[in-house]
Amino acid sequence: MANLCNIDGEILPESEARIPVLDRGFLFGDSIYEVVRTNGGVPFGWAEHWARLGESAKGLRMSLDLDERTVARRVATTVERAAHGDSYVRIVVTRGVGSAPNIDLSYATGRPCWLVMVRPLPDLSGKTTRVAVVGRLRNDRRALDPATKSGNYLNNILALAEAKDMGATDCVMLNVAGNVAEASTSNVFALLDDVWHTPPLDAGILAGVTRGMLLDFLPRCGERVVERNFEAAQLRAAKEVFLSSSLRDIAPVTHVDGVAKNGGSPGPRTASLLERWRTHATDLLRRRAPAWHELTDPV
Ligand SMILES: Cc1ncc(COP(=O)(O)O)c(C=O)c1O
Repeated sequence: MANLCNIDGEILPESEARIPVLDRGFLFGDSIYEVVRTNGGVPFGWAEHWARLGESAKGLRMSLDLDERTVARRVATTVERAAHGDSYVRIVVTRGVGSAPNIDLSYATGRPCWLVMVRPLPDLSGKTTRVAVVGRLRNDRRALDPATKSGNYLNNILALAEAKDMGATDCVMLNVAGNVAEASTSNVFALLDDVWHTPPLDAGILAGVTRGMLLDFLPRCGERVVERNFEAAQLRAAKEVFLSSSLRDIAPVTHVDGVAKNGGSPGPRTASLLERWRTHATDLLRRRAPAWHELTDPV
């Protein structure tokens, strides 16, 4: 049992994994990534994460030189070798080693570098969180589009640090229009007038895989959900709030700006959704496992 990295096909202990100093991911955050969790060796939402990696590559004008099967096999072999049981898997693709430390893409002469990092899965599913609405805005779509999951997370890093200074455990960032965008590494859902609201993609957010699945799943649980803009004041007034992500699933928000919701406990609708979501996720994973094995099993 070890933390492992697969760099361009070679598996190494994490402590021995190295990236060259001229790698553009290191120098400029010129990279894209995905985080998936595996249960029983099968990544949850693989197809969605793989599709989003392709979209992120397009967003950065990066061409991916490996196909899905090759990457899936690297994930499978590294997860198997790490033998953690349930794993955290981070797939990073950098634009590779450049010929000089120069941002101009004409210096990006190398091939992309593919890293698969495997660690034990942290126990974050359903963990409650306290959020603060921070002053730092989410990147505008016209600047660095949050829909592109790039390795440049300074916007989120600084927003999270601000929230921590305010005594919260996560931030909620607003967009330039003053509407709620997202949290540091999660999407936001708020129960307003008995309808779950989540910001639309054009608010400037990451199209979270969990968010996308929840948009389908909530109505099947008898919950109404809309993609609609709302402001910080509405978030503060919401009956219930939760964050969604691949590692957190549904994370109940117990406090917004230091003010408790539901007496500081998960809201009842959120708690019930979380329970049903876990059953649904387990079922989905079981149904999709054959496709994963087909993709990764040696022929
Ligand atoms: C900024 C941001 N928003 C939302 C999410 C949630 O996305 P997903 O559900 O695909 O994990 C993430 C996940 O890392 C993120 O970084």
